[in-house]
Amino acid sequence: MTASGASVGNWAELTERYTQLVEDINHANHLYYVLDSPEIADAEYDRLMEELRGIESEHPELQSPDSPTQRVGAGPAAQFAVVQHRVPMLSLANAFSADALRAWHERISRLMGREIKDFTIEPKIDGLAIMLRFEQGRFSIGATRGDGSRGEDITANLRTVRSVPLVLNDSPPPYLEVRGEVYLSRAAFQKINDERTATGQPLFANPRNCAAGSVRQLDSRITARRPLDVFIYALGESEGWQPRTQWQMLEAFGKWGFKTNPNNARAQTIDQVVKACAEWEHRRESLDYEIDGVVVKVNDLDLQGELGVVGREPRWAIAFKFPPVQATTVLKSIEVNVGRTGSLNPYAVLEPVQVGGVTVSQATLHNEDDIRRKDIRVGDTVLVHRAGEVIPQVIGPILTKRPPDAVPYELPKICPRCGSPVVRTEGEAMARCTGGFAKCVSQRFELLKHFVSRGAMDIESVGEKLAWSLVIENKLVYDPSDIYQLTKDQLIGLERIGDKSAQTVLDNISASKSRTLTQVLYALGIRYVGYQTAELLARAFVTMDRLREASLEDIEQVEGIGPKIAESVYAWFREADNLRMLDKLVAAGVNMQEEAVTISGPLAGLTIVVTGRLERRSRTQIEQQIKELGGAVGDSVSKKTSYLVAGEEAGSKLDKAKKLGTPIITESEFDKLVEEQSHA
Ligand code: IVH
Repeated sequence: MTASGASVGNWAELTERYTQLVEDINHANHLYYVLDSPEIADAEYDRLMEELRGIESEHPELQSPDSPTQRVGAGPAAQFAVVQHRVPMLSLANAFSADALRAWHERISRLMGREIKDFTIEPKIDGLAIMLRFEQGRFSIGATRGDGSRGEDITANLRTVRSVPLVLNDSPPPYLEVRGEVYLSRAAFQKINDERTATGQPLFANPRNCAAGSVRQLDSRITARRPLDVFIYALGESEGWQPRTQWQMLEAFGKWGFKTNPNNARAQTIDQVVKACAEWEHRRESLDYEIDGVVVKVNDLDLQGELGVVGREPRWAIAFKFPPVQATTVLKSIEVNVGRTGSLNPYAVLEPVQVGGVTVSQATLHNEDDIRRKDIRVGDTVLVHRAGEVIPQVIGPILTKRPPDAVPYELPKICPRCGSPVVRTEGEAMARCTGGFAKCVSQRFELLKHFVSRGAMDIESVGEKLAWSLVIENKLVYDPSDIYQLTKDQLIGLERIGDKSAQTVLDNISASKSRTLTQVLYALGIRYVGYQTAELLARAFVTMDRLREASLEDIEQVEGIGPKIAESVYAWFREADNLRMLDKLVAAGVNMQEEAVTISGPLAGLTIVVTGRLERRSRTQIEQQIKELGGAVGDSVSKKTSYLVAGEEAGSKLDKAKKLGTPIITESEFDKLVEEQSHA
């Protein structure tokens, strides 16, 4: 008897049996992997799986993506697709001490004008942040956090994680996006490294790296072999469901079949929070997975909304980080790197020392003032600390061990790379080499590295080594635009480049000519212009020419661009070397125009400013809503403002809008606008 057709009479019965099997096995998986309380014997489970595989092999057309057989992974993919997060994935501010926790509490209490109470306390899993999307209760997309706005589509890999439900229970919202952390237990990590030792493969440094490596495999069959796990802790977005508290949210997650951390807890007062955090410092070792702190969140979600977000960090939550591991060692010398924009970055060369499981031989020293303030001298025995994934830092000298001949440190007065004078502008922390990329090889090299990097021109085959060879060793590239003039012969002349890889490099370079204006702008390496700022500029000016011609005031007018950035952008376009490079990029055929913006949503293309007190929502709530619906939120009224939403006691913004003739609407009219635009 085969496991399928023969024992089941007809098609209807077969499909019914199939559905039943999928359901039963998924249920058994949930009990086993999420709730840790299996109800059926392993043998029975194996029998059901066997039957299911039998049906699927005879009737592949029946196979559904929710089938537990899909957890073994599919074949390799070429690359990960990009997933745009509709609601940005935030990060957290850190508190490194009880005092810092209390200071956070005081800040938010002051802000709200009353003592904030009622928190959730969640172990901070040291893994990788991910998002999971469910449509009609079915797992549809899973992605990494990426930069918070755009992540990588790792659906196929997350499908192999047993504690990721493929189908949700108990009537979940029709659209649901949750966030959580994928991680590996210490035991699983140990086992994987043991196997790698046996087969002579390089070892993973820690469970976090191992989890990250596993979840970003292009071949999901490899992911499937790593016993990854997941805890869900936050809501991204949902339709038709509005929890009132973080705790209620966590409970609903559990009900629907997600794995939430059984160690999550609640606390009423900040005293209780501080106590719980201190306890976790000792309890952390008792867990089978690594945590690097405790996440404290304000429980009430309305209150969260009112507290809002600064930059990428919510005010309503904080990560209490455990004191990092420290060690002492000898500072052998202080060296200086020259950054892309000329900054002189001093770093410590140390007698190698073990800190938190890794060998540290270099540490950052931030800047001149910091070295002076801490009075760090070459020859000192210094305290080094390494917190989580952060670059090791020198905390300070152990003065009792200072050699008598140690002298205070001074930053070089001329650039160690190009000999140009070093200046330090008043009010700035960093001293800079004045050579620019025209004179300073270091800046030239750093600029090229930045130019080809991901998010910029994304020219993968020009890595650090090739950049070094092109700029420093062979002087073929003077500014980044020169890469578009490279010939195959020149490349083949370089060490270790054959005909085929030379062609790949040229193809990659050529393909980069069609990057978006945002990417090009970001790639230029203008000081203070990160990707987000580049995006704002590209949207506002649409072509490079217009930005090039723009006055300082024009640039300052752009929402989200402050005077410091505007100044830097304006100055960049007045520098002969920069303009020469720009002209060469144009001549090479690099795209200099932004395509029509494809932000979707009913408010796409509109910039809306909000002022005064609204009736039904807080300021943050309406601003969040505008962004979610594809609109942009402006800080101040300008010619570019599409609407001003004015509530009670609106002040100067209202006057400005009246003067400029900006349409002024009430909160209800805003709702109507959304309604109309949604049906447009
Ligand atoms: S909440 C505001 N909750 O910590 C929402 N994060 O430093 C931000 N993490 O990117 C996330 N456990 O990878 C939250 N219970 C938890 C967490 C947690 C671990 C990680 C997460 C996040 C990072 C922020």
